Amino acid sequence: MNTLVAPSVLAADFANLQHEIEMINSSTADWIHIDIMDGVFVPNISIGLPVAEAIKRHAKKPMDVHLMIVQPEKYVEDFVKAGASSISVHVEACPHLHRNIQQLKSLGVKAGVAINPHTPVSFLSEVIAEIDLVCLMSVNPGFGGQKFIERTYAKIKELKELMTRHHSSALIEIDGGVNQENAPRLIEAGANVLVAGNFVFSSSNPKEVIQRLKDMK
Ligand code: DX5
Ligand code: ZN
Repeated sequence: MNTLVAPSVLAADFANLQHEIEMINSSTADWIHIDIMDGVFVPNISIGLPVAEAIKRHAKKPMDVHLMIVQPEKYVEDFVKAGASSISVHVEACPHLHRNIQQLKSLGVKAGVAINPHTPVSFLSEVIAEIDLVCLMSVNPGFGGQKFIERTYAKIKELKELMTRHHSSALIEIDGGVNQENAPRLIEAGANVLVAGNFVFSSSNPKEVIQRLKDMK
């Protein structure tokens, strides 16, 4: 399958969101990645529901919501109403992860699970057959613009082995520090979705950067 590219709005100019979303609309990006942070699960606060709703009013691409929050079950229905197509909750934030996944599926969105760099992929073994998306964090969540963690390549391989054992067809999404140098190797290792924040938005030609990621094999 072709690699999907999901620009992360966290790195966009929040004072010019409409302009940034229109740039994504007119680009070859596949999804729009939205990072929700609560200042509890991660040491940062980003945006919440009203901004996600406002983005959706302009967005023509599926909205991929990454919830870096505790007790996501309280909010997922609202994010579905706000127009999310896929939602990822963190395994580290969900003592009842199976229930969270059932909730996402019952709401008709792609059910995603995100895992932090220190969390082994084996923590997903009991749910991997149920989920549509694994968001492998390649930085510690909370901030954009961090350095890519090299161990991610090996984790993709481990995740693929786990998926084969459990007959899972989940998409593998890589989130954090994705750039021109690591993207080809990530795709070769088995990544299906590349999230890119700073790499896209710090460029003077973001649409060209998105296309360059799309062209990588
Ligand atoms: C980090 C977020 C990422 C972030 C990626 O907590 O989950 O989605 O925006 O940004 P870059 O690509 O700049 O690392
Ligand atoms: Zn993210």
